[in-house]
Amino acid sequence: MIDVIINNTAYSIDDSLPISLMDYLRDELGLKSVKDGCNQGACGTCTVIIDGVAQRSCSQLSSLEDDIEIVTIEGLSEREKDVYDFAFAEAGAVQCGFCIPGMVLSTKALLDKNLQPSDDEIKHALRRNICRCTGYVKIIEAVHLAARYFREDLAITEQHCDGKLDSNLHRVDAREKTLGYGEYVDDMSLPNMLHGKALRTPAPRARIIKIDIEKAQQHPDAVCVLTAADIPGDNKHGHLVQDWDSLIAEGNTTRYVGDALALVASKNPLSLNAILQLIEVEYEELEPLTSPAEAMLPDAPKIHPGGNILCNEKLVRGDAETAINNAAHVVTQHYSTPFTEHAFMEPECAIALIENQDVLLYTGAQGIYDDQHEVSRVLGIGEERVRVHSKLVGGGFGGKEDMSVQHHAALLAWHSKQPVKVKLTRQESIMIHPKRHAMEIEMTTACDESGKLVGMQAKIISDTGAYASLGGPVLQRACTHAAGPYSFKDVAVYGTAVYTNNPPGGAFRGFGVSQVAFALESNMNLLAEKVGLSPWQIRHLNAVRPGQALPNGQIADQSTGLVECLEALKEIYQSSPRAGIAVSFKNSGLGVGIPDHGRAILSVEAGKVHVRTSAACIGQGVATVAVHIVCEVTGLSPEEIVVEAPDTARTPNSGTTTASRQTVFTGEAIRRAAQSLQQALAAEVTLSDLNSQEFYGEYASDTDPINSDKPNPVSHVAYGYAAQVVLLDEQGKVEKVAAAYDLGKVINRKSAEGQIEGGIVMGLGYALTEDYPLVKAVPKTNYKGLKLFKATDIPHIETMIVEREFDPEVALGAKGVGELATIPTAPATQGAYYALDGKFRTKLPLEATAYSPKPKKKPTRRVRR
Ligand code: FES
Ligand code: FES
Repeated sequence: MIDVIINNTAYSIDDSLPISLMDYLRDELGLKSVKDGCNQGACGTCTVIIDGVAQRSCSQLSSLEDDIEIVTIEGLSEREKDVYDFAFAEAGAVQCGFCIPGMVLSTKALLDKNLQPSDDEIKHALRRNICRCTGYVKIIEAVHLAARYFREDLAITEQHCDGKLDSNLHRVDAREKTLGYGEYVDDMSLPNMLHGKALRTPAPRARIIKIDIEKAQQHPDAVCVLTAADIPGDNKHGHLVQDWDSLIAEGNTTRYVGDALALVASKNPLSLNAILQLIEVEYEELEPLTSPAEAMLPDAPKIHPGGNILCNEKLVRGDAETAINNAAHVVTQHYSTPFTEHAFMEPECAIALIENQDVLLYTGAQGIYDDQHEVSRVLGIGEERVRVHSKLVGGGFGGKEDMSVQHHAALLAWHSKQPVKVKLTRQESIMIHPKRHAMEIEMTTACDESGKLVGMQAKIISDTGAYASLGGPVLQRACTHAAGPYSFKDVAVYGTAVYTNNPPGGAFRGFGVSQVAFALESNMNLLAEKVGLSPWQIRHLNAVRPGQALPNGQIADQSTGLVECLEALKEIYQSSPRAGIAVSFKNSGLGVGIPDHGRAILSVEAGKVHVRTSAACIGQGVATVAVHIVCEVTGLSPEEIVVEAPDTARTPNSGTTTASRQTVFTGEAIRRAAQSLQQALAAEVTLSDLNSQEFYGEYASDTDPINSDKPNPVSHVAYGYAAQVVLLDEQGKVEKVAAAYDLGKVINRKSAEGQIEGGIVMGLGYALTEDYPLVKAVPKTNYKGLKLFKATDIPHIETMIVEREFDPEVALGAKGVGELATIPTAPATQGAYYALDGKFRTKLPLEATAYSPKPKKKPTRRVRR
């Protein structure tokens, strides 16, 4: 036993327990501000203060010493809680929130010793805390602000804000996330709750001959052990294509290393692995298909019954071949982009239970109605019998669109009749959920003597891995955006998505556009060189202007501000010989003729307006957007508005959080509902007079299919535009990133800036360090090995938002920025290195940079004499 003080209370802890301090704090003491982000000592979400020093708590209890004093967020004084809450909210430093309690404790450990820290001292203090959302910029601002409030003993005064557009409204969820009492699914514990886990395949491609669960069933902690034979509904699920087995049945062949063979529910989470080990699997290991090239060979084994081609997509307008043949300058290059791991801070977790013979599912995913649809399919029951309620979501970036744990939790609860929590370890998360697609891109771009683009051709091969996930739409967006935000008309883009035995490719911030933008924008630099223009000039010459047609034929609307973005960056670009520049655009909404709806109910309850919509907040802040819009339209104050959590029993279906669509689609639905509420209020009644009344708003986009024969089809309802400049120092390190964004009307400036800063840092990781190495289709990395940017790695980031005067219609003129934030960074970085050393890099992460792994020295052999 060891004696410790935790938050001013004495405890004697049995340090022989095979658990970590983090587990002890969370599970035994209920201190849920301590978050489990990796359990590998690599992320910092479990940070506590031990004897005045910020330390990770996910190491074993046995490593603790006697008489230490431990502090978690719960142990802070009220003054400290108020200051940190205010500082993080005021700076706009909170997004998904999962990293924030750890950040606060690293901050406290610093400020307890130094109330006037420099930027470098703050970055050093936060170096062990990863944030995947914010890019650290606003967290560093929050630390400065907190230091000032403590240093000058300033009072926290009540914030008065009218909530109108672009007012300084704090995020509605800032306090609960900063102080760690907001609940993510893993923070829940229910009476009689079991713990579930899946047995994964022993090899990416293996023929499963027999699964024997008998011994596992005998384990005293095992409550149920399931195989595919126990699935009451359809074993197959899938977001758009139902090709994904919930459990691989005997006689079938696995498709990737994350395939599940059996499920176990245990009374004790610590015995899960022991029970899984008792399951005996007889199998024949088969050679995996590790690349599209292998999978497209005529004699390649078929991964799915229909073969190894998921889909072909194309965008063809005009006559690209003739345009290129007649062009003054032509550039052709081949580009390779890798799989990328989302590395959201909160690993996947779901809890399912049975209530009145129906299922109640708690999730932290990107669309509760997707979960409802898919779980009901697997259970073979009507959708109305599955209620899904979302808890806070600790980041997603597209990686929580597919089911990962929800269906397994539901199956185990269905059979055991007890609540079951299924939570992935960080290593399982890295292995299982779909990644950003690896792509091979052959791109030809052509211009006339003056540098005006005249045509382009591209061939894209996308590795969609073992399952379709969103491989079709991702490939389609790659095709629709491959010609960039430029005004020319002769394009021919062909894409093929190929099944392999690699982990699935799926949605990831950028949705196929990150990959093609790297190829196109790099080609633009070579064209500029041939013409004798600067990279800035060739982009300015070709950038689409309001009223001109994009390569897909859509007329750029009056809000289009790409030229203004470029002009805002001209001076910065010209200030250094080591500068790179790139532009991009990104759609808001699904578009291309696919039905897409935003829906919201505003109900007046006990004198407050409840905003009810299923839109998932994965960190971007859709709840705060909702409050702004209601305040703007009705004149009500933020204190009169409550935003409810997504719940299929309460909130109408507003679609998935994907395609940068929630601000536009849900925002417009809320605006329409708010207009009805405003009309009711105009009859000189108070809110309380409207108690129990509901106001409904719905918005459906009207778009044309891809390759429509209309001369100017509407592919998407809105596009945001962006330009970024990357400056390198003389040592080849990124010194500064400047970004100018046209995201339409600003709803909440700090949130928008936070999205851009976070996107840039994610983009720098994509450009320079992040990799997802696979050996024979098996991922060979842990969380640390992903090489995410830390606070100490970030350059100076300058963000500018360009707003054009125009008549706002949909969502008060907002266009969404979530994905656009990250797209131009990799090509701008490529351009900067090309300017630095003249080496034209065509592969991500970029090779031979100051960030590349140093070549390993050959071991020198000692010779004994
Ligand atoms: S949970 Fe301890 S460092 Fe990630
Ligand atoms: S706010 Fe830091 S990881 Fe999401």
